[in-house]
Amino acid sequence: MLQHKEEALTYLSGFGNELESEMIPGALPVGRNSPQQAPFGLYVEQLSGSPFVTPRHLSRRSWLYKQMPTASHGAFVMIDAEDFLSESATVAEGNRIRLQRQPDELVPAAFPFGVVTLTITGSCAGRSGGAVHAYAISEDADAPAFSNADAEMLWIPTTSKLRCHTEFGVLEIVPGEIALIPRGVKLLAQPEKGGEARGYLIENYGQPFQLPDLGPIGANGLAAARDFLHPVAQVHDRRGPMRWVNKFAGSFWATDLAFTPLDVVAWRGNYLPCKYDLSRFMVVNTVSFDHADPSIFTVLTSAGGPAGAPNLEIAIFPPRWQVAEDTFRPPWFHRNTMSEAMGLVVGKYEVRSDGFQPGGLAIHNCMMGHGPDASSWVAASTRKLEPEYLLGTMAFVLESALPFVATTKALESTARQNDYHSAWQGFQRVTLPEKA
Ligand SMILES: [Fe+2]
Repeated sequence: MLQHKEEALTYLSGFGNELESEMIPGALPVGRNSPQQAPFGLYVEQLSGSPFVTPRHLSRRSWLYKQMPTASHGAFVMIDAEDFLSESATVAEGNRIRLQRQPDELVPAAFPFGVVTLTITGSCAGRSGGAVHAYAISEDADAPAFSNADAEMLWIPTTSKLRCHTEFGVLEIVPGEIALIPRGVKLLAQPEKGGEARGYLIENYGQPFQLPDLGPIGANGLAAARDFLHPVAQVHDRRGPMRWVNKFAGSFWATDLAFTPLDVVAWRGNYLPCKYDLSRFMVVNTVSFDHADPSIFTVLTSAGGPAGAPNLEIAIFPPRWQVAEDTFRPPWFHRNTMSEAMGLVVGKYEVRSDGFQPGGLAIHNCMMGHGPDASSWVAASTRKLEPEYLLGTMAFVLESALPFVATTKALESTARQNDYHSAWQGFQRVTLPEKA
């Protein structure tokens, strides 16, 4: 089995692969999943990520060999997770919206606190769309374990390392990497010792993210399955007691356990958390003129949107060569049927000359005109075109078939640029030639 060593952590590679891992040799049953007595007396639990009758290539499930069955918990009590929302109290705004940075109102706390929801699309109960949140996680020795029955979670750090001790083992991600935690998988998300972790948390309420089909690109290119890394089995060393918070139907439910729920001694299956280094993305683009559509930057896609559209899709804009001749090289002016929520991981975004910072968010909903601001347009329209390397940037766009509804907290944040429309002022109207 291929293994990747990174610092002290070991990972198993391959998106969607059937993998297995055991913390103690012999903990996995051989040749069957649920023997009458599992090795070491471990409890056997199946975690299903797709309906049982799903076609084989989409079927996702894992078998867990645990010290305690999940079912052994006591009653849950509903708690308030404050600004971690699944529904917005506002109407969908008819304007383009931009937050220049993370909301200033975001107060770091132990996850799932320290989260401010920025925008929601679709419905978690309806299993469509998703949400974009800002997170700021502080160190807390009593931080709870968390699971999310509503969504798969995509973590995009912008500041500092994030350590996710999941049921399947440990994933560590730094800015420039992402982590994908399947629906229902328990985890403890923590910053480095003495630090604070910040970034974006995307919930996908719909079908799990997959690698996109490649069509005429062929069998290789974009994100490669080999670069998605899964943890190895590791029971958490904080034995307990530990609080476990589960998000279900938009509410948060807590129960206190005598022992850690991160107690999977061995596992096998293909329903697994993973991480991915965005710098491994093989960028494809024109080598002649014009632009290919930005779908060539798609990292992951979730099927199931209306009328054949994706439910959600995430694309990145990484460092890359630009070589197109006689071409306006930055993204053009456009209006799309898909709605867009755009964020910045590091550096600057290529079509903005003002203060959009990592952690900020721009929302351009269905058919809202956007593109380069006036000064970027002038610069890109007049510059001498030579091959150039675009460096020091990593932006992403989350596309949804349904509109993004900003939350009250986002709309009223001091980080919001209230005159965002001014980015597109200052263009001169084209004067047509006089008729002869
Ligand atoms: Fe756009």
